[in-house]
Amino acid sequence: MKNILKIFILVSMGLFLNSCYYDSFPQDIDDGSGGGGEIPEVVSYSNDIMPLWEGQCVACHQGSVPPDLRPDNSYDSLLNGFVEPNDSGNSILYLSLIHADNVSPMPTPNTKWPASQTDLVKAWIDQGAEDN
Ligand code: HEC
Repeated sequence: MKNILKIFILVSMGLFLNSCYYDSFPQDIDDGSGGGGEIPEVVSYSNDIMPLWEGQCVACHQGSVPPDLRPDNSYDSLLNGFVEPNDSGNSILYLSLIHADNVSPMPTPNTKWPASQTDLVKAWIDQGAEDN
């Protein structure tokens, strides 16, 4: 845990020096629906999931910190250990988004995505985590 905190502090300082703003994060992510957003019958990775990474995640996950969440790489990188198809409960990606124990909370320890978005990720994983 100590190491994780250190890494976060280092990365945060890096972000600060590069003038990436934390304050622009939650506003454009929280859609205010308070959860329960409609989940498409078939969740599309490219239309529904991949765009989620752009706002808050790619800032840190652009290659050197796995998973690589840049558009061209995110699917392969996520399926390489962070997503268990059909098993969101064992998928580090989903667990980190809901701030479960034993994983690193994403996007930050103090910021959690609304259920409308974490449910979308959950549905995509439990539908087989397809590259659709
Ligand atoms: C402030 C920088 C930062 C942001 C923003 C960030 N991450 Fe991370 N993330 C990290 C670092 C550093 C690690 C690796 C060290 C660790 O596990 O804490 C990591 C690890 C992870 C892991 C692996 C967790 C584990 O326990 O192994 C996942 C999955 C992840 N990030 C997904 C995301 C997603 C999705 C977002 C956007 C919602 C996001 N991250 C936003 C810095 C960040």
